[in-house]
Order: sequence, then structure tokens, then C-alpha cells
Amino acid sequence: MKMSSDIKRVMSRKSPAGILQIMVKQLMEEEGLWEETLTSDIPTSWEKYGDLLLFNGEKYFRDDRWKHTPNLWQCICKALKAKRIGFKHFISEDSFRSPNVKLVYGVNSWVEFKDNGVIFTWDVQFNMFCAGNAPERHRIATFLCEGETVVDMYAGIGYFTLPYLVKAKAKLVYACEWYPRAVKALKINLSINKVASKCIVYEGDSRLVCPKGIADRVNLGLLPSSESGWQAACEALNPISGGVLHIHGNVTSSIKNKKIINDKFGCKDCVDILCNYDPNEKDLNNNKFCSDVGIQPSFIFHSKTVIPVTNVSIKWKQMEWKLWSLHVCHKLSDIFCSVHEQVWKLQICNLHHVKSYAPHIDHLVLDVKCTPQEYLVQ
Ligand SMILES: C[S@@+](CC[C@H](N)C(=O)[O-])C[C@H]1O[C@@H](n2cnc3c(N)ncnc32)[C@H](O)[C@@H]1O
Repeated sequence: MKMSSDIKRVMSRKSPAGILQIMVKQLMEEEGLWEETLTSDIPTSWEKYGDLLLFNGEKYFRDDRWKHTPNLWQCICKALKAKRIGFKHFISEDSFRSPNVKLVYGVNSWVEFKDNGVIFTWDVQFNMFCAGNAPERHRIATFLCEGETVVDMYAGIGYFTLPYLVKAKAKLVYACEWYPRAVKALKINLSINKVASKCIVYEGDSRLVCPKGIADRVNLGLLPSSESGWQAACEALNPISGGVLHIHGNVTSSIKNKKIINDKFGCKDCVDILCNYDPNEKDLNNNKFCSDVGIQPSFIFHSKTVIPVTNVSIKWKQMEWKLWSLHVCHKLSDIFCSVHEQVWKLQICNLHHVKSYAPHIDHLVLDVKCTPQEYLVQ
């Protein structure tokens, strides 16, 4: 495939997506296979890790004609300065959250990627790496964790473990992970980032292997919900000084009526609290009310005086975000009462929006400070 000087001139002014478009179209024209309808099949976005390109296989190159185009992968690699190509399909709903990636060009599927001063390496065919979680990786990097012991209950290849160690300067991280291929990448990553001596890897189900009574902070980075790990996380916290839980979850919004909300969370208590708390907030379908109101003292669940409070103003962009936060506190308060037979104060410190996961579904992280009641400073 030869490029005329005209095409070269046009390309020097084009974005990578524009260049890809021109080169792929030219190749297809030379093969007599081009039709304008194929334009939407040419990628306009992709992930690139080192020299490996990852395209969305649900969206691009779906037409059969691509299969019959010789030198297509070489042409794409030339256009985007790469050497390997993979296609990413919907993530498996298995317990490892396997990535469902197929390498179509090139031989080795390990990649290396430097993000915010942290080096990650993994096998794209077996480990998922969510580029969209960068806001959470970068937020963790800003935490001040000197002297702290952290538990990462779903460590994977070290998405959050590494920023805790490399950037937030945690004293020690216990990293729990049950997928051997992720553990392999995690250990390599700890070593290349020179933090292996500050991490203890627990290979197994975090609900069983998670250490107890030692943590200043527990990270629960599992979607769509980390709820199955909440009890182990509460048990992991230091029983004297407590600590912070970072709870991830996918939260569905824009639900049309209150009944569905009740069904969804299965928790009348939380809906009632939200309705009764402020007369102006009675209409659960009105999103305006939750724009800048924090959950204030004091909600009492099941007559146990466990109180989710916040003295920071949180932007509750959606009413369901507020309801979810309240419900997380509700469940945690129950767990603390049964695990520690003691009342713990829960403070919502922050609600962080990581990304839009799907239409009407948002990936949120709720930061909850948990303190045994004897240590409350009133
Ligand atoms: C894929 S990560 C989540 C994505 C990650 N937060 C990111 O930023 O890309 C979740 C990890 O938790 C692991 N995992 C899920 N449940 C687990 C459990 N009960 N015990 C230990 N590891 C678990 C999975 O194997 C997976 O490696």
C-alpha cells in the first residue's frame, strides 16, 4: 500500500483516528472492498498500552468484509504506530471479572502501562484493567496514608494497592486476591514498583483470608457490588481506633417511582428516613432536593444508636446516590453491632463519582469513617 504525497499532506494534519480512517479506507479501495457504510466500523477510539491496541469488539470491525482484507492488521498498526492488536468484548460476569479479550495480531499479550507515576503490567487476555477507573486511582494517590495499614480486599493486579503504596505512602498493605493470574501480575507489579516489602499478599477469598482487627483503611473495589465483603471489612478495622471504608458500588438512577426504589434496595427504613428527614425532600422523584444537602445527624436504625452523620457538604447529584449511601450506612451499622457488640459511629466523608458505567448506572465510591463509640469526640 503506497501513499501519494497528497494523502501524506492531508494525514500530517489529521488526528490518529483521522489517519486510521484514511489508511484503512485506501486499503479497502485497493482490494475493491470499500463501501461508505463501512465507515462506522472503523474505530474512532481505542485503548493503547505500549505497542498494543485494544479495540471494542462489540462496536468495531464487525462487518464480514474485514475478515477478507489482507494486511488489515498491519495497516492499522502502521497507522497507529503499534505492533499488536486485541479485541475487547463484554467483560465476563464470572467471579474473576475476566476481560474477554482476544489477541488478533502479535504474539505476546502482556503489556506495561505507566499511570500517574505507577507502573502496571498485566496480560490483557486474562486480567482486566479499567482505564475508566483512573479518577479513583489518582484520588487514592492523593491520600496521606503514612503510618497506616490498609487492606485491599479485591487487589487484582494492584490497581489500588499500588497507588496506596507508591503514592499515598501506606506503611503496609494486605492485598487479598483469589485469581492466580491476577496474583502473578500483582507480585510482578509490586516488585517493579519497588514496594514488595510493604505488601503482604493473601491469595484466596478475601471474605475468608482477610486479616482481622488491624486496618486503618479498607478498600472494597468490586463491581457491581462489594456488599458480600462488608462484614470482613468491618472485622478488619482496628477495634480501638476504627478506620475508613472505601465502598464501591454501581448505583442505578432515574428510577421513575418510589415503589421501584423500595423494591430495589429492599429497605423501607432508608426510604422512610429520607422522606421524613426534611419536609422539602418528601418527593423522592424530585432530584432538585438532593443537589447540595448532606445527610445530617441523626438517623437511628433499629433503635441502635448508630448514626450516619456528615459535616461535609456532599453533592448528591441523584437522589438514588443519597439513598444508596444511607443504605450502606444502615447495613454497616447492623454489621458493627453484631460483629463488635458495640455501637460504632459512621461518618460519610465523601461520595466520589468514578465513572458512568452504563446509561443510568454510575460507579460510586462512598468513604465512611467508622469509630467505636467510646472514642467519639463530641
Ligand atoms: C477486576 S478487579 C476490579 C477492577 C478494578 N477495581 C479496576 O480498577 O480495574 C476485582 C478483582 O477482585 C477479585 N475478587 C473478586 N471477588 C473476590 C474475593 N471474594 N476474594 C478475593 N478476590 C476477589 C477478582 O478476581 C478481580 O481480580
